[in-house]
Amino acid sequence: MNGKLVVFNHPLMHHKLALIRDENTGTKDFRQTVSEIGALMAYEVTRELPTTKVKIKTPVGIAESYTLAKEVVIVPILRAGLGMMEGITALIPTAKVGHIGLYRDEVTMEPHQYYAKFPSIIKDAAVLIVDPMLATGGSVSKAIDLIKKTGASNISYVGIVAAPEGIKRIQTDHPDVDIFVAVVDQKLNEHGYIIPGLGDCGDRLFGTK
Ligand code: PRP
Ligand code: URA
Repeated sequence: MNGKLVVFNHPLMHHKLALIRDENTGTKDFRQTVSEIGALMAYEVTRELPTTKVKIKTPVGIAESYTLAKEVVIVPILRAGLGMMEGITALIPTAKVGHIGLYRDEVTMEPHQYYAKFPSIIKDAAVLIVDPMLATGGSVSKAIDLIKKTGASNISYVGIVAAPEGIKRIQTDHPDVDIFVAVVDQKLNEHGYIIPGLGDCGDRLFGTK
């Protein structure tokens, strides 16, 4: 396994997590905070992106500078992944965006695909798959399968709340993929929900329940 697991441990992140876990937090604050967490995570996740050395002429001299060597492609898993996008794209405004539509069957917990569209440059890009919740790991594993079929090989997963089961699944199915999550919770319940988690992230983001 050469993929790494990074669990954030930062006071701002803990503060924002407390807010989105709270069952009394309404749609507006939930949505805004998920986006803010996305921005905080983007800063750390992009720390090791490859750069190219360039010479830049300033008004008074020549500066040895660095620019991103690869394009960045962000792929939110619909729907909940959309909630982190505003924050992430604020930090990486030049990123291209793909989309994967998946929903988890309530009984079998298996992911079902209903949409996929990727930018043509994805093969050579640094790809960030975004989904706030890593429960059984079935959805993220399937998303990685789809992205690998394009030929892309530089793939990371960025999420907020993970269950140990989901982390294990990704490390087993895709040991080459880096995993970045804000927190690892205790376990899954019998319905595949993360405990204590934050409930159904898609429903809380979009007010569908
Ligand atoms: C949720 C969540 C993940 C998935 C996690 O999506 O956003 O995509 O479940 O579960 P897993 O790790 O067991 O696959 P859901 O299927 O509820 O769809 P939604 O985002 O449209 O609500
Ligand atoms: N999807 C969610 O939105 N929440 C969970 O706890 C598990 C899957």
